Amino acid sequence: MLQEKEFALTERQKRELEYHREYARQHTALLKKPFSWDVLEHPSDRWWNAYWQMYDHLTKLKLEGKRVLVVGCGFGDDALRLAKLGATVFAFDLCPDSLNIAKALAIREGLSVTFDNMAAESLAYEDNFFDVIIARDILHHVDIPLAIREIKRVAKPGGLLIVNEIYSHSITNRIRQSAFVERFLYPKMQRLIYGADTPYITQDERKLTELDIEEIVKNSNKPNSEKYYNFLVTRIVPDRFVAFSKVDRLLLIMLKPIAHFLAGRIFFSIQIAK
Ligand SMILES: C[S@@+](CC[C@H](N)C(=O)[O-])C[C@H]1O[C@@H](n2cnc3c(N)ncnc32)[C@H](O)[C@@H]1O
Repeated sequence: MLQEKEFALTERQKRELEYHREYARQHTALLKKPFSWDVLEHPSDRWWNAYWQMYDHLTKLKLEGKRVLVVGCGFGDDALRLAKLGATVFAFDLCPDSLNIAKALAIREGLSVTFDNMAAESLAYEDNFFDVIIARDILHHVDIPLAIREIKRVAKPGGLLIVNEIYSHSITNRIRQSAFVERFLYPKMQRLIYGADTPYITQDERKLTELDIEEIVKNSNKPNSEKYYNFLVTRIVPDRFVAFSKVDRLLLIMLKPIAHFLAGRIFFSIQIAK
């Protein structure tokens, strides 16, 4: 089992850690379920889904033998999938309980991954170490400028940073914060999306805005394959409604010039310049 390391945590990190320790305790049943490799088989099949599109991109990168880092790996889904693709995978998370689940799954699946307990804002890896770095649903939990500085430090010059995150343009956020949405629409939507389940939202998390994206891509080449997802899906309609999800994605493709105002998720990759 991974031992919890002693490192000084910020107040925000302490709250994230406490939340995810409890979350991991509620998810130990994952160890009894089969691990899903679906997304590696035909990733282009679900062209409307950002996660599948990320794997469409990753499988084309030919990761065999490449040194890949998974930022804030949680229960290790991406770490295991990338190891299966032949990458040399390093993965870290703030929460040792989540890492214990990830490590047990990797052992069970016969995969080698180097898991570490650390915070994204202060990485223990050496400079210029990774060919590819994946940040999926993690940057909205961290101090972005500090984490990005560290990610760029540990990436090789010309290395790839692949980002797949919840997002909302700051103008759209103003609509989201209106009384109508806050008091009327949002509670109804939460019931539809989550049913009786408690939403998985930590106290400090916030969707990335266009300003965060600017901070991430600063000094790097223009993002490759920048794509926007989830206009109404996951906001008003759950993503299990497949036909609706396809229409939603088609709408964002057709409305490309304003998709950055409408979308609720962004996926892109950049080449790290040093
Ligand atoms: C929404 S989960 C995403 C996990 C994984 N990336 C995935 O997509 O399944 C967010 C993860 O971020 C971790 N986390 C929160 N703050 C962190 C920090 N400052 N440094 C590293 N990990 C952090 C949490 O422990 C949790 O595992």
